[in-house]
Amino acid sequence: MIDKNSIVNSLRGVLDPEIGISIVDLNMVRDVSIEGDHVKVTIALTVAHCPLAKTLQTDVEKALKKSNEVKSVTVETTAMSKTELNELRTRLQNRTTQTPTPQGNSPGPGIDRLGKRELRNIIAIASGKGGVGKSFVTSMLAVQLRRLGYEVGILDADLTGPSIAKVFGLKDRPSKTPSGRITPVVTRTGIKVMSINLVLDDPEMPVIWRGPIVNSVIRQLYWDVDWGSLHYLLVDLPPGTSDAPLTVLQSLPLDGVIVVSSPQELASLIVTKAVNMAKKMNAELLGLVENMSYLTCPHCGKAINVFGEPQGEKLAKQLNVPFLGSVPVDPIIARLSDHGQIEDYSASVFQSIADELRIRASQHAQQLMQGLPIAWSIQPSES
Ligand SMILES: Nc1ncnc2c1ncn2[C@@H]1O[C@H](COP(=O)(O)OP(=O)(O)O)[C@@H](O)[C@H]1O
Ligand SMILES: [Mg+2]
Ligand SMILES: [Zn+2]
Repeated sequence: MIDKNSIVNSLRGVLDPEIGISIVDLNMVRDVSIEGDHVKVTIALTVAHCPLAKTLQTDVEKALKKSNEVKSVTVETTAMSKTELNELRTRLQNRTTQTPTPQGNSPGPGIDRLGKRELRNIIAIASGKGGVGKSFVTSMLAVQLRRLGYEVGILDADLTGPSIAKVFGLKDRPSKTPSGRITPVVTRTGIKVMSINLVLDDPEMPVIWRGPIVNSVIRQLYWDVDWGSLHYLLVDLPPGTSDAPLTVLQSLPLDGVIVVSSPQELASLIVTKAVNMAKKMNAELLGLVENMSYLTCPHCGKAINVFGEPQGEKLAKQLNVPFLGSVPVDPIIARLSDHGQIEDYSASVFQSIADELRIRASQHAQQLMQGLPIAWSIQPSES
């Protein structure tokens, strides 16, 4: 027999994908009905047509199906009433009042003066050398997070290679707002992209964009761009362990770093260096992704290790970083990239990496909240 309590307990583990708090704690679970091995739950969404609704529904289904007894799940959604929303908003506001981040247009020379603005998770993607597929991994993570319904941006700080703009087929130039800020270019599925390559030949743009000072350019890509509010800003870092990526890592308020490697990188020296660089930074090292790990045989579907034994997982263990996954070599990628259609690509490994990222981000949000005064649960006794 399935009982209601066990269902509610399973639902405790499901976090609202936007707020990062359990849907049970948020009072979003409105109805649970059980008929034999079928469970129906009704969830009240914060916004009626929330783009993240689908993701939440999938999460609820997954959580409930973990129990062997539950055979099928129906998730219905309603929307919170205005009053309920206002209540929730007040509760959350009281919880999340944070120390103000610096605002204003001039970041100044100090590295710690770049404010976080409305960018919830800033994640940099790094690699020890070029050509390992760092930009591809960045693009696909953005695509996957977007598919889940998140607001996503890509800051292309890899000024060395073909641009992110190309694989998304972006041709428009970023426009300028009346206040002088730059509006990023938006991809077909709604990812905001800002890249030096989008502005290089534009005489309207400030001279500094042409300048050789990578660091300064990257700071502008971050600071002068009107990113709006994003759940994820992914930063495609310059490759290598030289000064350029280091400065970027230090000057942007990063939340996490992902290192991309490929089995071609002779032994582990380069990857080790990249990981060590990332470890030194003021951000969580989220893990290692091995790209071009293997080729899937077109005849039998077995994995062929074209570049020798994949070593990502072993290496990650040695270096004591989480291993996020292996990305196979896929000839389709080249074609889609050339045609600016990377948003049509999908591979299961990116689904699991994106899931890992959003779980981490939620935990991060919860930790943040735990460390803050929670006005609504600890009422000051005023007598
Ligand atoms: N898993 C993959 N399978 C096939 N081609 C890939 C794969 N990953 C990357 N590529 C291709 O390899 C080249 C280098 O990738 P890129 O992302 O530009 O590398 P990086 O940013 O590390 O220099 C690109 O042409 C890209 O389309
Ligand atoms: Mg690149
Ligand atoms: Zn085969």
